[in-house]
Amino acid sequence: MIYYKTKAEIELMRESALLVSKTLTEVAKLLKPGISTLLLDQFIGEFIRDHQAVPSFLNYHGYPFNSCISVNDVVVHGFPNANELKDGDIVSIDIGVVKNGYHGDHAYTFALGSISDELIQLIRVTKESLYKGIEKAVAGNRVGDISYAIQEHTEKKYGYGVVRELVGHGLGKSLHEDPQVPNYGRRGSGGKMKEGMVLAIEPMINLGTKDVYTEEDGWTVRTKDHKVSVHFEHDVHVQKSQPDILSDYSIIEAAEKANLNLFCAERETLNA
Ligand code: CO
Repeated sequence: MIYYKTKAEIELMRESALLVSKTLTEVAKLLKPGISTLLLDQFIGEFIRDHQAVPSFLNYHGYPFNSCISVNDVVVHGFPNANELKDGDIVSIDIGVVKNGYHGDHAYTFALGSISDELIQLIRVTKESLYKGIEKAVAGNRVGDISYAIQEHTEKKYGYGVVRELVGHGLGKSLHEDPQVPNYGRRGSGGKMKEGMVLAIEPMINLGTKDVYTEEDGWTVRTKDHKVSVHFEHDVHVQKSQPDILSDYSIIEAAEKANLNLFCAERETLNA
């Protein structure tokens, strides 16, 4: 069942999405080698509750943390832990909130310190693929148009692995609503998009094989070849004219740039 949102509901959802963006921005300022992901997770929980909202991942099907923090070969649903982050780590942070009854759910991948050109490219291309998918999120197009655009840019053009087991989704009063939004598929396939839909579009792109497995903890998803995986996610409101992105990367990117530990000169290209 697809729930179409009214203009008033969209504005509430924008507030929820922006709270996630603001949380990610504060996390970007804290991120540095030596900090643990558990400490970041505690900060995330407090920041969300200080803003009259609740972390929506906590207790979702028993998920035991406020956020998902997925380092290097962890694709998604990584458990925050007490290990210190180190120079060269690729850290995907996925955060969900419920505020005024509506969910925000989005993610950003950061790199700590200096990383290889190969990884700079993987991060850049995954983020680009998200925007190429978003471009297709207008009324009249099909969900498969989003899927195709993402797969085309990542798998066909760069030979990266597009994760099949996890997909984007509708978002609203529930964290996961219809329709599913795969990051692979055929142009013109799937349901027709209509004004008032809100989609969480979230490419999960692997440097190597597309194949993943879930760890014994029942959550942590890793690449089979243990190569790095990158994840970006935006909340997008479908309109007739153009997509309306409810979440906001510009404030996260500004914090990322300002954080000298994170952003060395040779990585200027990431946000170009
Ligand atoms: Co999501």
